Amino acid sequence: MLTCLGICSLKQKLLLLLFLSISSIWFILQISIYEPQLQRISYNFGSASSCNEAQHSPAKEGVERTPTASHINCSAKKTHVAFLKVHKAGSTTIMNIFLRFAIQNKLNMVLPKRSSGYGFNYIGYEDTVRRENIVPLPYNETYDILCNHVMYEREAFQSILPKDTVNIGIIREPASHMMSAGTYYGLYHGLVKHAAQKGLSKANIVSEFLENPFKWNVSTAFVHNRMSFDLGLERESFFNETEIERHLKTLDEDFSLIMLMEYFDESLVLMKRILCWETKDVIYVPLNTLRRGASFALKSDDINNLKKWNYADYRLYEHFQKVFWNKVHAEGSDFFLEVQEYKLILKQVKRYCAEVESENNLELEPLYVPESPWNKEFQTTPHDCLVMTADELPLLRSLIRIAWKRYTSASKSI
Ligand SMILES: *[C@@H]1O[C@H](CO)[C@@H](O)[C@H](O)[C@H]1NC(C)=O
Ligand SMILES: *[C@@H]1O[C@H](CO)[C@@H](O)[C@H](O)[C@H]1NC(C)=O
Ligand SMILES: *[C@@H]1O[C@H](CO)[C@@H](O)[C@H](O)[C@H]1NC(C)=O
Ligand SMILES: *[C@@H]1O[C@H](CO)[C@@H](O)[C@H](O)[C@H]1NC(C)=O
Repeated sequence: MLTCLGICSLKQKLLLLLFLSISSIWFILQISIYEPQLQRISYNFGSASSCNEAQHSPAKEGVERTPTASHINCSAKKTHVAFLKVHKAGSTTIMNIFLRFAIQNKLNMVLPKRSSGYGFNYIGYEDTVRRENIVPLPYNETYDILCNHVMYEREAFQSILPKDTVNIGIIREPASHMMSAGTYYGLYHGLVKHAAQKGLSKANIVSEFLENPFKWNVSTAFVHNRMSFDLGLERESFFNETEIERHLKTLDEDFSLIMLMEYFDESLVLMKRILCWETKDVIYVPLNTLRRGASFALKSDDINNLKKWNYADYRLYEHFQKVFWNKVHAEGSDFFLEVQEYKLILKQVKRYCAEVESENNLELEPLYVPESPWNKEFQTTPHDCLVMTADELPLLRSLIRIAWKRYTSASKSI
């Protein structure tokens, strides 16, 4: 297993072996706590380490990293990113991360030309990105970041964004997605209205709906395989096995990461590593969550019916759950340590920003976050808190205004 070939002394080998065993055991423990799903996937520990790599690895404090870890070859932050904002999957919080990153690094964003009546966070409503719908750029500049609502379509994205763009998405467990989207986008409200008109009890209205969703005259656009739809699966393919599998294959090829909302922080650490970003770039304060929770719950029969109706989304989630944990595994044993550290930092940031808000004190001393093996030291200021908690619509409106100004003044100067 250890190929030191005379470089290492026996003592070094033994120490390394001891270290590897401890870290493997630790990692296995972490996995079993984290995700029972993982135990069905067989892994191959330890074989990737050699004495040479252990000595030259950039890891500090003796933390082992496997050579497949995404951030090993990082030389510069990736600045060409498309984040597919899937409805009701925690993506407003992540969009805020991208907006901040774009502002800070003066990047060009793909921004909607007009609101089209849905607010400023749609580039395409039930449509993909098209040049005629976005704010144009000054001559010879390229778009860097896309993070508004739009449907994924490979050719459309490739025609607007640079070749080396990293695509990232997020999904959520389909039953919890149904409860959240069904509450937020009015399905439940519509069903209750129907119940009242027909003199039905509202207690079982969701169950009755799920027994035959096609029978009801209610809007289901946001609850019927919406995640697959946002990721580019056409409605006529919702029940076509061939098309669903083809779509998954496309996503596998095109997306560097599909995050899981249930593992939000793990997802963001993975994203940070894949994009070669720093911890400061991915800190957040949660946004746009349902404050009062969902209006209804699903019983086990409901979930069985949902699995048929939203088959495509269940396939999507099942598939990308596996892909996600495989990526986590490839990161090596320090991944969960970084997640722990990240969660601690987030707690401090949340508390700090709550203090800034409650005291309305923009002069508060910055929060100092010390260096760790995974981040440089950095500060969070009251201004950072304001941006992290800003409503997306006013923020987008001002970004759109600035982008138009840049475009018009550049065209005048030609
Ligand atoms: C890192 O770079 C080396 C040398 O170019 C390459 O062999 C290796 O596959 C790369 N690793 C990753 C994760 O990209
Ligand atoms: C346009 O960009 C290319 C590549 O970045 C550059 O070589 C070229 O000089 C630019 N042209 C103008 C007119 O700025
Ligand atoms: C469905 O609902 C819409 C609006 O609520 C209504 O205009 C339409 O007539 C209804 N269709 C049927 C078949 O009941
Ligand atoms: C499913 O998709 C395949 C491939 O596009 C197509 O050939 C087939 O006719 C579709 N099946 C149905 C039932 O629509």
